[in-house]
Amino acid sequence: MKKIIIIDASPRKNGNSDVAAERMAAALQGNEVKIIKLREANIKPCIACDFCKKQDKAACVQRDDFAALIHDLDDCDAIALMTPIYFGQIPGPAKTFIDRCYAFFNPAKNYMSVATKRGKKAAVIGFCGSGPVEVYSKYLGDTAQNFGVLGVDATRVFMLGNVNEPGSCTKSDSCMNKIDETAKWLID
Ligand SMILES: Cc1cc2nc3c(=O)[nH]c(=O)nc-3n(C[C@H](O)[C@H](O)[C@H](O)COP(=O)(O)O)c2cc1C
Repeated sequence: MKKIIIIDASPRKNGNSDVAAERMAAALQGNEVKIIKLREANIKPCIACDFCKKQDKAACVQRDDFAALIHDLDDCDAIALMTPIYFGQIPGPAKTFIDRCYAFFNPAKNYMSVATKRGKKAAVIGFCGSGPVEVYSKYLGDTAQNFGVLGVDATRVFMLGNVNEPGSCTKSDSCMNKIDETAKWLID
């Protein structure tokens, strides 16, 4: 049984990211899966106080929902980020979440990280309107690299375009299959 954290970064309810998060959780049945909906979480921006750089393990001075997640992020086997594209980028709450992963960053340590478990996998699944899917796909690939600080050393990205309507990704069989396939890869 593997531990997987699914981060749902969509600010809107019942959107494509919600559908993808539920679909992936179903495909991961039998494992320990936690879905974090960023719109419901209290995660403040990193304040760059560098408290974390004086600790031997991942830690944060701020007492919010990110701090409460640190242990799970260190201990999990895989992370999946489901996200819309907003103005060519991930939405603000997703960026804030990634910024807070600074709690794991320490240039003095091996792999520049205090993560205790390495060999994790990360998947990023993105949804957009009519924008350039290849451009966003490459951008999400770069975004996924940031999870290296959590001990991730393998990443995959899938980007689906033309899905402005909430939940319209369900009309794409190839997208649904891709989510199932990605789920299998995450726990492989
Ligand atoms: C503030 C905002 C900015 C957006 N910017 C883009 C964009 O730059 N390119 C694009 O193709 N779609 C853009 N979209 C459309 C969303 O990416 C699209 O509706 C996506 O499916 C939303 O994901 P969700 O259903 O998981 O919320 C934008 C939507 C909003 C609300």
